[in-house]
Amino acid sequence: MDIEFVRSRFIKHFDGLTGSVYASPGRINLIGEHTDYNGGFVFPGAIDKGMIAELRPNGTDKVRAYSIDMKDYVEFGLNEEDAPRTSWARYIFGVCREMIKRGVEVKGFNTAFAGDVPLGAGMSSSAALESTYAYALNDLFGENKIDKFELAKVGQATEHNYCGVKCGIMDQFASVFGKEGSLIRLDCRSLEYQHFPFKPEGYRLVLLDTVVKHELASSAYNKRRESCENVVAAMKQRHPEVEFLRDANMAMLEEVKAEVSAEDYMRAEYVIGEVQRVLDVCEALEKGDYETVGAKMYETHYGMSKLYEVSCEELDFLNDIARECGVTGSRVMGGGFGGCTINLVKEELYDAFIARAKEAYKEKYGKLPKVYDVVISDGSRKLC
Ligand code: GLA
Repeated sequence: MDIEFVRSRFIKHFDGLTGSVYASPGRINLIGEHTDYNGGFVFPGAIDKGMIAELRPNGTDKVRAYSIDMKDYVEFGLNEEDAPRTSWARYIFGVCREMIKRGVEVKGFNTAFAGDVPLGAGMSSSAALESTYAYALNDLFGENKIDKFELAKVGQATEHNYCGVKCGIMDQFASVFGKEGSLIRLDCRSLEYQHFPFKPEGYRLVLLDTVVKHELASSAYNKRRESCENVVAAMKQRHPEVEFLRDANMAMLEEVKAEVSAEDYMRAEYVIGEVQRVLDVCEALEKGDYETVGAKMYETHYGMSKLYEVSCEELDFLNDIARECGVTGSRVMGGGFGGCTINLVKEELYDAFIARAKEAYKEKYGKLPKVYDVVISDGSRKLC
């Protein structure tokens, strides 16, 4: 990502003046999928791909926003009724509103932004955009009085209130709190976190992008969350202490089997397993036991595909190829319904795996998967 590129477009599009420039990354997640809104653990890290935005207050009460990548311009006011219809602009509008709700006196500004996180690939391009603006508005209008936890919540609330996705906190948290070379073990209930240096000797992490996006992903996502809440409601009758599925175990799930739908049961079975898998992976990482880490990743893929049903044919295909090639761990990453697999692969198998995956995918689907090497990087920041 290139500041000069964004700056040149900002100058050209507006009045020739420069502003302040901010950046926030997308994320990967080693393990812990759909556990965040269940109060469980996740294991993300920020990546070297993200969003960059330049902003300059314009002395009006209007935001003038230019998407460099989409060559699209939108202008909107800052009151609740001013919500723009264009989807990318709703993220910026939502962040403005959520900052205003938290007492920041956001005024009009000119802005241009661009990014290199692939859209819809499960690397959280939207969280990168939200975090960039939350961080920027806090700096420009809020004297940096909003802390980083709250900045992450601003992005999450933007998704909930302005974009229709009832997401958890993982993506925004990773984007704001990322640290070069470290994954973050985050307890999504307490928001306690720990940076976990991740340099697996002899292994590489690589993403394979199916280049598939599924249209109904956000409504399907919200439905998964409802299933989890239904099961918690049923469990609460006997176990009032259960606040999230994180507090549950398989015995408790068996108790409510007759009271919940077969579908909700499967969803909860996956989540209960996944909460435990994150803890198992942490333990394995502490011992440098990457074989166990990888085995857990395959288990996650199975659960996401067969129980949570958020995989798709193309992702399952790439997962099978990984297994065939002897890749240590592989699974669908992020919300699912398309996007990437994340693969933990031994150095010496890397080239053969990538070549085989490309060839087989091309043969089956007529297109190449995209390949992204993972570089774990810093979170939200001001560039100049
Ligand atoms: C999306 C959401 C996150 C999380 C993941 C699945 O990325 O935004 O909150 O739920 O899906 O782990």
